[in-house]
Amino acid sequence: MDKMKWEASPNNLEPFWMGFTPNRAFKRKPRMVARAKDMYYYDLEGNKVMDAAAGLWCVNAGHCRDHIVSAIQDSVAELDFAPTFQYAHPKVFQLASRIATLAPGDLNHVFFCNSGSEAADTALKIALAYQRITGNGGRTRLIGRERGYHGVNFGGTSVGGMTANRKMFGAYLAGVDHLTHTYNRAEQAFSKGEPEWGAHLADDLERLVTLHDASTIAAVIVEPMAGSTGALPPPRGYLKRLREITQKHGILLIFDEVITGFGRLGAAFSAERFGVVPDMITFAKGVTNGTIPMGGVVVRQGIYDAFMQGPDHVHELFHGYTYSGHPVAAAAGLATLDVYRDEKLFERAAKLEATWADAAMTLKGHPLVEDIRTIGLVAGIDLKGIDGKPGLRTYQAMENAFHDYGFMMRIMGDSIAMSPPLIITENQIDEIFSHIMPKVLKSVS
Ligand SMILES: Cc1ncc(COP(=O)(O)O)c(C=O)c1O
Repeated sequence: MDKMKWEASPNNLEPFWMGFTPNRAFKRKPRMVARAKDMYYYDLEGNKVMDAAAGLWCVNAGHCRDHIVSAIQDSVAELDFAPTFQYAHPKVFQLASRIATLAPGDLNHVFFCNSGSEAADTALKIALAYQRITGNGGRTRLIGRERGYHGVNFGGTSVGGMTANRKMFGAYLAGVDHLTHTYNRAEQAFSKGEPEWGAHLADDLERLVTLHDASTIAAVIVEPMAGSTGALPPPRGYLKRLREITQKHGILLIFDEVITGFGRLGAAFSAERFGVVPDMITFAKGVTNGTIPMGGVVVRQGIYDAFMQGPDHVHELFHGYTYSGHPVAAAAGLATLDVYRDEKLFERAAKLEATWADAAMTLKGHPLVEDIRTIGLVAGIDLKGIDGKPGLRTYQAMENAFHDYGFMMRIMGDSIAMSPPLIITENQIDEIFSHIMPKVLKSVS
């Protein structure tokens, strides 16, 4: 390529290396969007594309909401940047206190970062440091779960349980182990909400405690609902049992609520829905409705207090990001919480759950559909794969949905995931499952 400094070659799709995307297939037949409003994207020709993915599990209030847009515009014009190391600005404190009131139990201190991946790594580091400063420095092991996703940084990938994400990148953190995953099609197929079978799988933690000894384990991290491996709701009672076992052994429990936070399962955090109080909750995505990158970790009072020791002119935690609590992200977060509150969107998700589940289950019986799982405003649909070509049928389904039926969904392997903005209407739910999906499935049959 003959490079002319500062000049972009028009319509050249090559320089941008896309993550988690087959670049060559995409660049041959791109799926581009130019603008968005409420439930819809609009492609480059102005055609409507219904967003059944909330962008990437993040636009829970729908797109380009006026209140959030103007808060961002005003904020960037007033205070473009302020450090939150050694100085600060008021909005980040307001946002932390509002998130703390939404979090369950005594989870009432918030450490900000910029993404779900950073939130996972931050939580793991806080867990290790907490064990050390409370006299349990031997507790250095971290336990994740098979089929878990905690972002792409080294900590999150280490505790994550997705083979394709792990196999390329070396040996990761030492001292990590994994619980067995909770999915069993024979026992759970076509479950709405929490499957009845599988609470006993939490006892797998006892196996790891027997193997490693509790005195070596700092924390367990799980997604309450595993999102990225096909939307796997937790078996009924599983999370409570995990809480009991972690408590019994002095192990911290971290819920990764990067996708379940901010209303996706009908409550501010799914911990509330499941009636379990973990020691830390990670969040990102929905906190700013996807508008400005932001993530964070909410921690229990006792964890924060444990750090507030020693000389008071010395940092208590040697961790943080330049953009932790960025003023524009904080403004976006505050405005987003206003919209969630004023439009009662978490309650709306809870009310729509049964309609959504019933509509999704109408696809049961289609010869390509092997399983459907629903919870909150989430659906995971497993399609029959094409022999020797895993993921090809869903890829074609995604292409056809976008180009031919004006519809955006997510795919992972041979699964489709849907997680629409919480403003979706009953008519739009009906349109997805009675009209769009039957055509999409037919197009790949
Ligand atoms: C449960 C969970 N944790 C962490 C992440 C990583 O978030 P990010 O892509 O913002 O780093 C994701 C992203 O989808 C997620 O679903």
